[in-house]
Amino acid sequence: MSRGRFVVFEGIDASGKSTQARRVAEDRGARFTFEPGDTPLGADLRRWLLDASAPMSPVTESLLMLADRSHHAATVIEPELAAGRPVVSDRYWASSIAYQGYGGGVDLALLHAATELAIGDCRPDVTVLLDVPVEVADERRLRDHRDRFESADVAFHERVRAGYLELAAADPAHWRVVNGADDLATVCAAVDAVLAEVWPGA
Ligand code: TYD
Repeated sequence: MSRGRFVVFEGIDASGKSTQARRVAEDRGARFTFEPGDTPLGADLRRWLLDASAPMSPVTESLLMLADRSHHAATVIEPELAAGRPVVSDRYWASSIAYQGYGGGVDLALLHAATELAIGDCRPDVTVLLDVPVEVADERRLRDHRDRFESADVAFHERVRAGYLELAAADPAHWRVVNGADDLATVCAAVDAVLAEVWPGA
């Protein structure tokens, strides 16, 4: 039996990645999942991570995100893929590199090594980056509730966005960048065009 396809959506807050991840999972009959928090352990970790009244250092954040990720990969993602079923995730390893690494200043080489420890060979076939300028995301977020990460400053999100673009540029075989600032129909069409190429016949 062949291994299931593993697709991840990434982007800054309010980039529209969750909408796309859910839509693609439904269209393609894939298991939808997300980080942080899509396991019983992860739900507890998510509560701590997003609690604005309990600030923590970027290193502590990294370690909790990685704990969530390692458990998520071992108990949800890997079993699905091994059984031949496709998985679509809203965020995965690159979120830690972009947010805690580029955004929070945690050492990138150490984060990459810790990521390897957390996920081993459970790597996405492709990661779709929904790229939006920070001011566009800001306008969208103004309409919504803000949690601790979403209250971070513009400079932080600029670093996160730049980090994502750098990761995508460094590994074009495994990344695709879609302009997330367009209207919804245009973004959906762009995502579908990318997936038709990297996940044909689904
Ligand atoms: P998420 O639930 O995807 O929120 P949103 O849909 O608003 O983007 O993620 C919650 C926050 O957690 C988000 O601000 C990004 C942050 N995050 C990290 O900082 N590092 C990580 O490794 C992950 C998975 C998320």
